[in-house]
Amino acid sequence: MIAMGCDHGGYALMQQVKDFLDEQNISYVDYGCYSEDSVDYPDIAQKVCSEVVNGTCDKGLLFCGTGIGMSIAANKINGIRAAVCSDWFSAKYTRLHNDANVLCLGGRVVGAGLACELVDVFLKTDYEGGRHQNRLNKIAALEK
Ligand code: RB5
Repeated sequence: MIAMGCDHGGYALMQQVKDFLDEQNISYVDYGCYSEDSVDYPDIAQKVCSEVVNGTCDKGLLFCGTGIGMSIAANKINGIRAAVCSDWFSAKYTRLHNDANVLCLGGRVVGAGLACELVDVFLKTDYEGGRHQNRLNKIAALEK
């Protein structure tokens, strides 16, 4: 299960990514927002990331204007490794090397076609483990 959320700046892009997930038969929960009325992205990041941390959802997708605000907010939450991506290589390697559990996308940065490719590779790529685990342990220690 995927947890998804957006602010007004990411609303339109998230609707297009939801259509893509529907086509792929990938299940998700939409934590809003539900229109282009202005909202504060940390509130949405908190809802989505809680579901990832508590294990209800495997991964999160967050959308704002740039993806940056969502990622800053998400990365304040213990256990979240959120990455803003606008290229395919980063979306793949943040799974392989960082075991990122939240992908942040900018609705004013990437188009729908690219966003769907980024989501696709992010969801399909497994963490490599091995030498990267010690680094993730050190990141986790920074949360303490
Ligand atoms: C909202 O205007 C905008 O600041 C927000 O969507 C996001 O881009 C913040 O990082």
